[in-house]
Order: sequence, then C-alpha cells, then structure tokens
Amino acid sequence: MKDIQTYITQNKDRFLNELVELLKIPSISADSAYKTDVLKTAEAVKLRLEQAGCDFVEINETPGNPIVYGEKIIDKNLPTVLVYGHYDVQPPDPINLWDSPPFEPVIKTTDKHPDGAIFARGACDDKGQMYMHVKAMEFMTNTNQLPCNVKFMIEGEEEVGSVNLGDFVKNNHDKLKNDVILISDTGMIANDVPSITTGLRGLSYVEVEVTGPNRDLHSGLYGGAVANPINVLTKMIAQLHDENNHITIPGFYDRVEELSKEERAEMAKAPFNLENYKKALDIDAVYGEAGYTTNERNSIRPTLDVNGIWGGYTGEGAKTVIASKAYAKISMRLVPNQDWKEITNLFQTHFEAIAPEGVKVKVNPHHGGQGYVTPIDSIGYQAASNAYRDAFGKTPIPQRSGGSIPIVSLFEQELKSKTILMGFGLDSDAIHSPNEHFGIWNYLKGIETIPLFYKYFTELSK
Ligand code: BES
Ligand code: MN
Ligand code: MN
Repeated sequence: MKDIQTYITQNKDRFLNELVELLKIPSISADSAYKTDVLKTAEAVKLRLEQAGCDFVEINETPGNPIVYGEKIIDKNLPTVLVYGHYDVQPPDPINLWDSPPFEPVIKTTDKHPDGAIFARGACDDKGQMYMHVKAMEFMTNTNQLPCNVKFMIEGEEEVGSVNLGDFVKNNHDKLKNDVILISDTGMIANDVPSITTGLRGLSYVEVEVTGPNRDLHSGLYGGAVANPINVLTKMIAQLHDENNHITIPGFYDRVEELSKEERAEMAKAPFNLENYKKALDIDAVYGEAGYTTNERNSIRPTLDVNGIWGGYTGEGAKTVIASKAYAKISMRLVPNQDWKEITNLFQTHFEAIAPEGVKVKVNPHHGGQGYVTPIDSIGYQAASNAYRDAFGKTPIPQRSGGSIPIVSLFEQELKSKTILMGFGLDSDAIHSPNEHFGIWNYLKGIETIPLFYKYFTELSK
C-alpha cells in the first residue's frame, strides 16, 4: 500500500508511546476494585478511535463493563469490516514473578524479539493487538486510502467470558451489520512463519465443591474414620482421565469431529520442533492423549484441566486438620460440534455420580462458549492470506488454535458473518502469565498487514 513503510517509520515512536500509555491503566475485568481503571480505559479507547478518523464513537453502558463502538461509513455500497477486540486484561498475579511491574511497561529484547518487546499485562492480549487496528485505521484515513466502511467494537469483559456482549450484539444487529469480522487476538507460528488462525476451541468452565464433615476436624482424632474432602476430590479428579489420557466422562467424545488422514497430514506440515518446545518449557517429555501429536493435542482435541485447587491449611508450618471442604476450578477445551452446555451437563452428571459416600458434591458452572472454524475458501481468508503474503513475503499457513474466544460463534449466529483471525502474537509472549510481552516488530508488522486486508477484501468483494 502506498507509503505504509514510510508512515510507520515516521510514526513508530508515537505508535509505541500511545500503546505504552494504554498499558499503564490496569483494566483488570476480573477484579471489581479496578472498575474506575476499566472505565478510564474505555474512555481512552474512545478518544483514540476519534483521533484515528472514526466519524462516530460511543461508549455503550452494560450491566458490566462498557463496550466502545466506533465507525466510519464512507459509502453504503462498499463492504463493511467489523473489528472486534478487548481492552480488558487478565489479573497480573502472581505479581512477584514479574521482572518489572505489570502496569509500568518496559521495552527489552528477547531471543524471539531481537528488536525489542513491550513488557506489560495486556501488551499482546489484547491491547497491543487491538491498538494495531486503531493505528492501521489512522494510516488509511490520513493517507486517503480507506477503501471501505469500518466499524469497531471493543469490549471490556472478554477475559471474564464476555457476559454482556451477547445481549449487545443481539440488540444491535443493524448497527453491527458487516461483511466480515476481523480480530487480532490470537497468535502466529513464528515471525518468519506467518499463519492465520482458522479455529478456536470452545470452553466449559466449572467450579466443584466437595463437602465432608460439617467442620474442620483434628486429623488425628478423626483421620481415617471420615471421608477427607481433599483426598476424595483429588481421587475424583484423577478418575477423569484413563491411562491413555482419554477423558472418561460418558458421552464426552460423542460429537467430536474426527479429522481425516489428509487433514491431519496437512496439519503436520506446519513447522514444529519438539525438542525446542520441551526446552522452552523446561520439561523432559510432553504429555497427553495417546495417538495424537502435540499440535493435535492442543488444537483439534478436547481437554480437561484443573486450573486451581484449594482447601485445608496452606499457611506456614503444619496444621493437623481434615478440612470440611475442598474446591477445584476445572476447564474443558472443546472442539467444533461439541456443545458447551451439553458438555457442562455431562460433566455435572458424571462428577456427581463418581462421588463416594460420605461427601456431598456440588458443581457450579461458570461460563463457556462454542468453538469456531473459519473456512479457508472465503474471500475474507483470501484477503488475509494476500495481506500476509505482501507484508511477510510468504504465504501464511492456516492453523487451528487451542485458545478460545467464545463470542466468535455468537457473532456468526447473530450477525451471519465469518470471522477472520489475524493474530500477530507468539505463543512465547506469555499471555495470561507473568512477563507478558508483545514484539515491537510484530506490533508494527500488524499495522502494516491490516490495511492490506482492507484493500484486498474490498477488491475481492467487487
Ligand atoms: N486472546 C485470548 C484467546 C487466544 C489466545 C486464542 C491465543 C488463541 C490464541 C483470549 O483473551 C482468552 O484468553 N480467552 C480465554 C477464554 C475466555 C472465556 C476467558 C481462554 O482462551 O482461556
Ligand atoms: Mn484476548
Ligand atoms: Mn486472554
């Protein structure tokens, strides 16, 4: 596209500084103590969208965090791209594992990012990636190269399950009407191996509670004679996988789509080095479902994982006690065709069924969402592929991701349009972990690639 390189070079420092300012605001959606910061971030996003050339920007209140909506409609007869992103971030915990404070962004180089990376919570997920779209918009409007209509919908509750976005989408079909949805909230294989995410896993997230005796007991006086909820819970959890690491919940795999030999062979072509993978995580072996490769295990296969487990005494020293209660948070990553509500019910029925006598078991469903697969024969995919080819000098590889953006399947259901996932993060960018970062090269490359998507999408729509 005309002048994009020059524009980026000339504005690089400002692009970085603006992102740094956004990253300083701790917009943690999971913790209500940060509500003012969440609102401040929504205001900042609104201002940035106005400055980037949107004709109309508004903050939509919800029962939770506001949704920022912006648009620039240049011609009703031209196609419309709807950009979705989120301005909320994950909690930074555990804080002591960060090398620099999570909301005081610093730039440092890493093995994967020799040109430097911005370290801060939300740098990659998703403020950095969302802001690439704002800057791409600025470039297109400032240089008179916006080829079509654009709408932005930036929410503040993605990290807590997008609880209010569904209603907003359902009540605003006309406002959100579009020809394609564009999201940068995923990753790619490597800086020299561009890829486009073609699938997301679904999710069912539950919390379980096991109650034994009506109070905490002396583990000597009562130990061995009453069910210990922590012992019971861990045993129940252990039973959820068999010796091949298959999930044992009856019916769990009934709707799982089995990929053909050809599709699996195609997937196996993506570059992957098992030794480097193990080295990066400091593990001596990978682990998972028998009969599947690592890349299959983390994308086309469903999983069940404990995300947190607690109960009893965890303070300093020893306390001899049998706790009255034990808890765990469990996530199940689902693949296309598995219905998250059905899976949640299957889990609940099974978990209650395997409870031994002497305890009460409660399953509290949290949230969830469907998986998503995007076709690669659409003009949206073609436009994205062309854009990467021009910007990276290589045709991108289609790749399914293991992560979830549950709202994407609702977009398709409500707005009847496909989503294109143009992610520029790397798996090693530590999203949700301490020391999250986003490569400066990736940030600028994203800003360069996005306008090309608009160009090709508009051309191919004719
Ligand atoms: N951006 C991530 C999802 C993601 C990351 C997908 C990398 C693919 C590659 C998103 O913000 C996220 O964290 N989603 C949650 C689910 C949500 C309901 C909290 C997830 O995947 O755990
Ligand atoms: Mn995200
Ligand atoms: Mn996230």
